[in-house]
Amino acid sequence: MNTVGTEAASTAGSAAPLLAVQALVAGYVRGLPIVHGASLTVAAGEVVTIIGPNGAGKSTLLKAVVGLVPVESGRVMLGAREITGLPAHEVIAAGVGYVPQTANVFTTLTIHDNLRAGAHLLADPRLLAARLDRAYEVFPALAAKRRDKARTLSGGQRQMLAVARALMTDPLLVVLDEPTAGLSPLLVEEVFMRVRALAATGVAVLMVEQNAKGALKHSHRGYVLAEGRNRIEGAAGELLSDPQVALAFLGGRTAVAGAAGLAAAAKEPA
Ligand SMILES: Nc1ncnc2c1ncn2[C@@H]1O[C@H](COP(=O)(O)OP(=O)(O)OP(=O)(O)O)[C@@H](O)[C@H]1O
Ligand SMILES: [Mg+2]
Repeated sequence: MNTVGTEAASTAGSAAPLLAVQALVAGYVRGLPIVHGASLTVAAGEVVTIIGPNGAGKSTLLKAVVGLVPVESGRVMLGAREITGLPAHEVIAAGVGYVPQTANVFTTLTIHDNLRAGAHLLADPRLLAARLDRAYEVFPALAAKRRDKARTLSGGQRQMLAVARALMTDPLLVVLDEPTAGLSPLLVEEVFMRVRALAATGVAVLMVEQNAKGALKHSHRGYVLAEGRNRIEGAAGELLSDPQVALAFLGGRTAVAGAAGLAAAAKEPA
């Protein structure tokens, strides 16, 4: 359970990025962007975490990447392919798995049907069966409950199901919006360990986390997003020891004041 920051930056971080977000401007209403020129990269096998104050536009940025929020300008590249502005189903088909911040499982469907729904793009029934087998192998707790409705799952199991569903299409990149929200400390660790294990198989992981310290400990690199722009970026280990980041996001009595300071800093020209 060590910090992966430095060791990772020299391996996964040196590869050509799988995901490259360039000067992205996006929002729900045209002309009123929430994301104001965010840029980031994620390499295959790399875990990259975005932290930032509430309302900074973290979820909106992820949604713009996966085609759920209109992009006004900038680019999203997945490998050599430009996916900017593609509808979500095409982004998923291109190799992206997305786990939203809320409502990320169908509570009235069984665990099995949730997983099948995640794979509705798969035409080959044998491939579907193999992916289902793999999901149950990786998440045995889900296998035991496969015929139960998802609403009967605990918070941690729901998150596992949401992740398992996103993996059904065998994505190159997984985008996770606050995967540990509302979980007990033990489950938080489990989710982060699974995220790392996933990246170790070569999948690129981009996640947003409120649990900044925990997430950075399990990440290679991180970005601080404030007011729709990435303000600070670096190896996870560097961010963990950055006094400004620590003040704003890593706990302590001055955490709120720190976040306000960062938002104020974001108003200044870059
Ligand atoms: N569906 C929507 N329609 C219009 N505006 C929205 C919508 N969802 C979010 N916003 C606005 O976009 C801004 C950024 O919200 P977003 O959810 O991206 O922030 P966030 O950084 O993910 O915050 P949190 O840490 O609370 O999850 C906020 O001002 C929010 O009110
Ligand atoms: Mg959010």
